[in-house]
Amino acid sequence: MARLFIVGATGLTGREVLHVGRGLGHDVVAHVRPDSPRREYWTEVFEAQGAEVDTTPFDEEALEESLRARAPDAIFALLGTTRRRGRRAAQAGHVETYDTVDYGLTAMLLAAASRGAPDARFIYLSAMGVSPGSKNPYLRVRHQLETELEESGMDYVIARPSFILGQRDEKRPGESLGAGLVDVALSGVGAFGARRMQERYRSTDARRLGRALVSLALSPDAMRRVVLSDELRAVGGEA
Ligand SMILES: NC(=O)c1ccc[n+]([C@@H]2O[C@H](COP(=O)([O-])OP(=O)(O)OC[C@H]3O[C@@H](n4cnc5c(N)ncnc54)[C@H](OP(=O)(O)O)[C@@H]3O)[C@@H](O)[C@H]2O)c1
Repeated sequence: MARLFIVGATGLTGREVLHVGRGLGHDVVAHVRPDSPRREYWTEVFEAQGAEVDTTPFDEEALEESLRARAPDAIFALLGTTRRRGRRAAQAGHVETYDTVDYGLTAMLLAAASRGAPDARFIYLSAMGVSPGSKNPYLRVRHQLETELEESGMDYVIARPSFILGQRDEKRPGESLGAGLVDVALSGVGAFGARRMQERYRSTDARRLGRALVSLALSPDAMRRVVLSDELRAVGGEA
């Protein structure tokens, strides 16, 4: 059995990775930030599923020590904020942007992992559309992180899904609408034979993505790879 360390365990994808990992009998460590307003709730939920909870603060040395002690086979980096969360944080006097969270905390985790658990595979949840020319802030920080991961010397999988759908605690109308529009548009394209395009761009169910990420994390063939949406759905199996 393998040991999986999930950062972003409380998120949509993180919860699915945890569920799949435990279902397969792996040791799962779920990271919950110590300042989470729902720390007790998540601790109870995750421990009930048989996972260990790690509440190490986002501090590079502390994370390095925690990773060294836990010696995971795979580290999942599933962190991200949204513009709405950023606005709420600003009202409370904090800065939460794609730069500080999606890039900043993930880069900190990567630095800690490359020293504390250099033999682990680093699974980074990026996004469809990332490229060297990416200009918008969401894609630009992902390209920056992907580049650093590729240069880190660690074993890795970069996953680039399209929209991810599943049960969220908070409403994200833009995400559901975007995924719906893309899927409907693609169903017309598919009817005219462009199945490949449909496979590549349509949304991915979070459970299926969770299965794909765990499988890629532990597969001997998946080293140092970028995996696109269509392959993620194929590896994840039926929704
Ligand atoms: N959703 C999509 O359609 C989609 C598509 C492609 C790629 N992605 C990317 O995939 C990643 C995961 O997506 P998701 O939808 O599973 O994420 P999600 O449900 O929004 O969860 C985000 C995770 O990041 C953590 N986080 C957010 N702000 C934080 C902060 N300031 N400090 C520490 N932790 C923080 C959250 O922890 P708390 O619960 O403690 O806040 C949570 O565990 C993100 O980078 C996202 O951009 C998403």
